[in-house]
Amino acid sequence: MYTQALDLPENAPVKAVSGVIDDPARLARFDKTMEDDGRIEPQDWMPEAYRKTLVRQISQHAHSEIVGMLPEGNWISRAPSLKRKAILLAKVQDEGGHGLYLYSAAETLGTSRDQMVDALHSGRAKYSSIFNYPTLTWADVGVIGWLVDGAAIMNQIPLCRCSYGPYARAMIRICKEESFHQRQGYENLLTMMRGTPAQQAMVQDAVNRWWWPVLAMFGPPDADSPNSAQGIRWGIKRISNDELRQRFVDATVPQAQVLGVSLPDPDLRWNEEHQQHNYGAIDWDEFWATVNGNGPCNKERLATRVKAHAQGQWVRDAALAHAEKQRQRAMKEAA
Ligand SMILES: [Fe+2]
Ligand SMILES: [Fe+2]
Repeated sequence: MYTQALDLPENAPVKAVSGVIDDPARLARFDKTMEDDGRIEPQDWMPEAYRKTLVRQISQHAHSEIVGMLPEGNWISRAPSLKRKAILLAKVQDEGGHGLYLYSAAETLGTSRDQMVDALHSGRAKYSSIFNYPTLTWADVGVIGWLVDGAAIMNQIPLCRCSYGPYARAMIRICKEESFHQRQGYENLLTMMRGTPAQQAMVQDAVNRWWWPVLAMFGPPDADSPNSAQGIRWGIKRISNDELRQRFVDATVPQAQVLGVSLPDPDLRWNEEHQQHNYGAIDWDEFWATVNGNGPCNKERLATRVKAHAQGQWVRDAALAHAEKQRQRAMKEAA
């Protein structure tokens, strides 16, 4: 997963790097590449602010992928059938893979994985606010696939054309896998909606709880999103938060009708004049409270992540020891 809300300011905001003056000739070449909608690769010169913006966005994205494994991971041991367990295992594993591609892409900008993981674990780095909501029933697993991964796709397809090559290439593969995530979620919900009244009520309850946080995933309204214009100029962001949110609403309403669930918004209606749906006001206070660490599960998610990292120390130690052994063997053979 996930998203535009990925370019939120960190606790320590990114500023222009003091003392570093971008060389005018190189800056002009960079600007021309941007104008021509070209690509920047790791070995190319880039302005420090572009590099920092990308590190912030790609690392937030990577963190979101691996924190996003947690709410659904909670249900692997309780999946209702072997088939659902296999699907969910594959999906959660995909998210771990997305985190790996993205950490690797961010590393090409000169920031180490250790630095990024440390920023996440110490609470300095952000991840998508959506993963701070609890998964109370099995229907939440379906709704996350349908709505959360669905919103992620809407956000991420334009990133396949991002001006930074390694990020764009990582996104192509990620988007293919996200499409599977969205479909498995929707199919899970369709099956439940053909089931008992209790199962149908479970789906409706999950939709009611996730709908508004999912709309907030697209990030603050364009008017309150000062980083967006620069992101668009740099070819990092292609489509505005509000436009993506609108596309998501328009795509999702007919899917909800097929499913037979209602969306919890009394103001949601088709606007004939604009050929799109009107929708109600999003609670931005709740969004910012969650982003700033006070959502329902922020502390639990971070604690689980830190614990998993600590418990995996022996794996990293063993991998390093093995690599060292291989290196020594290779040296001996070469001698
Ligand atoms: Fe996903
Ligand atoms: Fe993902």
